[in-house]
Amino acid sequence: MGDALLRTEGIYKDFGGVAVLKDINLEVNSGEILGIIGENGAGKSTLMKIVSGIYQPSSGRVLVDGKQVRIPDSIGARRLGISLVPQEFNLIRDLPVYNNVFLGSELLTKSGLLNKPAMRKRTGELLARLGVSIDPEARVEVMSSAEKQMVEICKALAFESRVLIMDEPTTMLTKYEIEILFRLVGELRKSGMSIIYISHKLKEVKALCDRVVVLRDGTIVHDGLTAEITALEMAQKMVGRELGSIFPPKNKPEDEIVFEARGIKVPGVLEDISFALRKGEILGLAGLVGAGRTELAETILGLRKKTSGEFIKHGSTLVVNEPADAVTAGISYLSEDRQGSGILTGFSVTRNVTLVSLGDYCKSFLRLIDKSSERTKVQGYVESFHIKTDNLEKRLENLSGGNQQKVSLAKSIDTAPDVLIVDEPTRGVDVSAKHEIYRLIADLVKGGISCIFISSELEEILGMCNRVIVLREGKFAGLVEGEAMTEEEIMFHATGVHEEEAS
Ligand SMILES: Nc1ncnc2c1ncn2[C@@H]1O[C@H](COP(=O)(O)OP(=O)(O)OP(=O)(O)O)[C@@H](O)[C@H]1O
Ligand SMILES: [Mg+2]
Repeated sequence: MGDALLRTEGIYKDFGGVAVLKDINLEVNSGEILGIIGENGAGKSTLMKIVSGIYQPSSGRVLVDGKQVRIPDSIGARRLGISLVPQEFNLIRDLPVYNNVFLGSELLTKSGLLNKPAMRKRTGELLARLGVSIDPEARVEVMSSAEKQMVEICKALAFESRVLIMDEPTTMLTKYEIEILFRLVGELRKSGMSIIYISHKLKEVKALCDRVVVLRDGTIVHDGLTAEITALEMAQKMVGRELGSIFPPKNKPEDEIVFEARGIKVPGVLEDISFALRKGEILGLAGLVGAGRTELAETILGLRKKTSGEFIKHGSTLVVNEPADAVTAGISYLSEDRQGSGILTGFSVTRNVTLVSLGDYCKSFLRLIDKSSERTKVQGYVESFHIKTDNLEKRLENLSGGNQQKVSLAKSIDTAPDVLIVDEPTRGVDVSAKHEIYRLIADLVKGGISCIFISSELEEILGMCNRVIVLREGKFAGLVEGEAMTEEEIMFHATGVHEEEAS
């Protein structure tokens, strides 16, 4: 087919001699939604960075409308009609939304000055189209991850694109926002735009995409219509083997209460939240974006000040003024925003894993770091989580997104907590890494740890948790357990409406 809108021919890419993409021949036709899936580190983002000008291929060529093109940078890609919504945010924190949307391609007045009103207006229109209430003047630094994701999408939509690439756009979004995004993608396709959609949520890919390409270790191992493949078959092609049941058996918690929240109030954020966590329990925390799940975790860690209520650990009141106090008290937190507060991308794998726990490796009289025990420990995580890295000193920014997430999880358990709070623990990780993370958390609770499990993916909440607390607009909306633990029941509490009433 010579008339593909976008085509790559024999693309190879290596980083320092390590081949990441090998002989990639990909075609994107007009008006199609193409899904690209593959395990963490398979090369998905790298390939997309090549077609959007962020990386140059080591060899091979890119063709648009059958003609070879050179894509020097992302502005060059934009000129060719190729826009990328990147996996990791690329926003400037202290600039307002509209500035970010038009960064590098600012709208100008006739006299050559920045046309702020026009940029503000256009940004407002785009945000409205996405169905989100974000002020174009708002600064990015105060925004939630979901809002930042919407701003990234706006940025890509601000220019006439012919190919819109979305690299895991829904990892930060909840069901409601995902629906809006899917509707929009459908409309864009109708208007003739092609969409490349990368996701680890295989059911989404099946529902949304016309065709799916599977990458494994830098090569295309499957290319076919989504109608002709099931989500399970997709998963098997990704990992190259049969897959067993995804969720490990649930642990039976003990009666002992390890941690308790009593009447927690943070003005404007949380209102009268109470719950108890038992030993060996996984307690789910569900709700829509903005329901207060992350805010509750941040309050436990002392990042937000409560004005009433108390947290109780092993029977005594907990005094936590900052995250370090929480660590001392045996509470650890895996942040939802790994780039913002979870990890330091400029540092090595080792440095990140032992970021908080470093003191534990300074056992000698002189308090020197015991490098060899540190290395052994980190190597252990790399092996048991299958973290894909050439060596332990590799900088985190050079690991794929899902592998960064695994490092972040290793870091949060390296402090040996007895209460582990995980916030979107499997964000951006592939199916087999999900298995590993689920198994790991299940092993930890079996060993006596208790876990608060925050997730927007109801499937994993149901598959992992013993009980689920649902929050709505900062308030307790319901506790779901036993027979009642279904997606419908959780959504009912989260939205306040039953599904049939909503449609
Ligand atoms: N700048 C870089 N320097 C060195 N290695 C890199 C660089 N960028 C990517 N890599 C390596 O290339 C491989 C592919 O990474 P890529 O980000 O494309 O994976 P991915 O398929 O998008 O994975 P994920 O699902 O985790 O996002 C990884 O092993 C990664 O460590
Ligand atoms: Mg990626």
